[in-house]
Amino acid sequence: MQTKRPRFNEPLPSEITPRDIFESRRQFLQQISVATVTVAGLSDNVFAQTIAARAKLAARANPAYFAKEKPTTFEDATSYNNFYEFGMDKGDPMLYAGTLKTRPWTVRIDGEIKKPMTLDIDSLLKIAPLEERLYRLRCVEGWSMAIPWIGYSLSELIRKVEPNSNAKFIEFTTLADAKQMPGVSSRVLDWPYTEGLRIDEANHPLALLCVGMYGQTLLNQNGAPVRVVLPWKYGFKSAKSIVRIRFTETQPQTAWNRSAPEEYGFYSNVNPNVDHPRWSQGSERRIGEDGFFTKKRKTLMFNGYPEVASLYTGMDLKKFY
Ligand code: MTE
Repeated sequence: MQTKRPRFNEPLPSEITPRDIFESRRQFLQQISVATVTVAGLSDNVFAQTIAARAKLAARANPAYFAKEKPTTFEDATSYNNFYEFGMDKGDPMLYAGTLKTRPWTVRIDGEIKKPMTLDIDSLLKIAPLEERLYRLRCVEGWSMAIPWIGYSLSELIRKVEPNSNAKFIEFTTLADAKQMPGVSSRVLDWPYTEGLRIDEANHPLALLCVGMYGQTLLNQNGAPVRVVLPWKYGFKSAKSIVRIRFTETQPQTAWNRSAPEEYGFYSNVNPNVDHPRWSQGSERRIGEDGFFTKKRKTLMFNGYPEVASLYTGMDLKKFY
């Protein structure tokens, strides 16, 4: 995601990882599996926190939501990220998100509900049995991944807080703490990062409240300790490191819509028939598999999740992009 791009459909400079960064991230990922690590240019503190954030997380694979695809490697999924609170390059979140403190962590849930509450991460983990789901995630920039996420349907949490009849939308607010997040000092977005859904979208069983990936808790760069994953929408809808979930009567503003309304709409459904002003949405490159010079794969309507189509019956998806 960037609001300025040099030429239509060309990789961003940030999408082509310079060799030194690529090598340092490989080294990082090799070393992360051992207890003591030293990598030039990064403090032990950063590593210690990143390692501490990882813990095994048991979850039963849900075959109904397990895409028949080769999963993206753990290495790619944790080193090629968009998390602007830690910088704009794809490698920045992996390098800098170690400063994010994910415990204690609470999520405030309020607005148009009967039971407002503040839940800590352990309570959130217990709301419903954890499932592993392999979802495709497609970024509006034209790349995609397939990731084994862990979590449960967001609808389980929604049911617990009992929305009232005014609750038509949900707003997610994510952490914006300049002390922990170096990118928040820049003006690239109007912080905090917020996202939103219509309540029927949020209640669709595909919408995942996500607490882990690859059999373990989320790494900071992927949105620890809690995020959402909405596989039929462009990646930016999947807000990371959520601190507040607010139920509203009117459509909430979203960070990307505020920053560039002609480029990022509220719905942001994956739609090969509606191009972004600067990037074609008809095809995509799978990270780790498709090189810049191989033929791109076709992007499917709703990212290949046709079960969500009924949410949009009668809507002009060119207008509601
Ligand atoms: N959430 C926050 N808080 N900040 C961000 O910059 N980037 C979004 C989304 N969630 C973002 C965010 C974008 S543009 C994408 S593509 C996905 O996170 C990337 O998720 P991943 O790095 O786990 O693949």
